[in-house]
Amino acid sequence: MIGIDLVELSRIALNLERLANKILSDDEFVEYQKMSLLKRKIEYVGGRFAAKEAIFKAIDLKQAFNYKDFSVLNDEHGKPYVKTKIDINIEISISHTNNYATAIALIV
Ligand SMILES: CC(C)(COP(=O)(O)OP(=O)(O)OC[C@H]1O[C@@H](n2cnc3c(N)ncnc32)[C@H](O)[C@@H]1OP(=O)(O)O)[C@@H](O)C(=O)NCCC(=O)NCCS
Repeated sequence: MIGIDLVELSRIALNLERLANKILSDDEFVEYQKMSLLKRKIEYVGGRFAAKEAIFKAIDLKQAFNYKDFSVLNDEHGKPYVKTKIDINIEISISHTNNYATAIALIV
């Protein structure tokens, strides 16, 4: 199963703190708070938002999941991985430009 999402970063920027609180898990929020550049914060939240919407598409949409059920973290090389208590294995890929963030999720 596969899912994709595309997010406009201008819309993230309008509500950055509210979205960060709504979308980010505790582990992600720790990383977010370490960031000093506003641009990096916006792309980080946009990337996580795209990643989680992509995950919702890849999983059965009829099941109710919350943004905070998933943590999209980065390994020592920067590669993103998904931490979740739900018993599924999710591969994720994220990209961002100045204006957009996009993500693809794959249930393996
Ligand atoms: C990693 C790399 C592919 C990112 O590409 P980019 O065009 O600069 O940036 P993009 O906007 O497309 O992608 C950024 C996202 O790529 C992901 N990413 C970072 N490193 C990655 C890696 N090693 N493998 C897979 N995905 C990676 C992250 O999710 C990142 O977003 P996030 O930090 O908000 O989670 C690119 O920088 C690269 O090839 N680097 C060479 C390897 C390198 O420099 N490694 C440094 C750490 S050892």
